[in-house]
Amino acid sequence: MKILIPGSFDPPTNGHIDVINRCSEIFNEIIVGVVVNPSKDSLFTPDERSEMLVEICKEKQNVKVKIFEGLLVDFASSESVDAIVKGLRAMTDFDYEFQMAQMNFNLADFETIFIPASPEYGYVSSSMVKEIYSYGGDVSALVPSVVVERLNNG
Ligand code: PNS
Repeated sequence: MKILIPGSFDPPTNGHIDVINRCSEIFNEIIVGVVVNPSKDSLFTPDERSEMLVEICKEKQNVKVKIFEGLLVDFASSESVDAIVKGLRAMTDFDYEFQMAQMNFNLADFETIFIPASPEYGYVSSSMVKEIYSYGGDVSALVPSVVVERLNNG
C-alpha cells in the first residue's frame, strides 16, 4: 500500500518523524508531502522543510519527500496513493482532521487513516516549537538535530 503523509512541517518535529517512521514499518511506500501554503506565514521555505525531511528520513528506503501546491486530493491522485495518513495528538486535533478527512473523501474518494501520536510526543507541535525557540527556549528535545542546526544557523 502506498500512502501520503501531508503537512506543513514548519519545522518537522519529533512527533512528525515518529509517525513517518511507524508508517514506514506498516506501509510499502510513503510520500511525505510538504505543502506550499501561501496564506500561512512560514518560518522555513518549502525547499528548506523538504531538505530537512530528506536528511532526517535518508535511512528509510521507502520514504520519499515531495513538495506540493494546491489541493491535497489532486496531489494524492497524481502520486497514485491508496490513502492519506494523518497523525492525531489529542481530541483537540480531531474536529479539524475529521472535517478534512470527510472533505477529501467527498472530493475524490480518498480515505484518511489516523494514527495516534506516541504519548511522549502528544504535546509537541511545530507552532509551539517556533514560539519556544523565538523566546530563546531549548527545543532540542522536540525536534531532530538537523532542525536545531537550521534554527541556529538562521
Ligand atoms: O501540518 P498541517 O498544517 O496540519 O497540514 C495541513 C494540510 C497540508 C494537510 C492541509 O493544509 C492541506 O491539505 N492543504 C492543501 C489544500 C487542501 O487540499 N485543502 C482542503 C483540505 S480539505
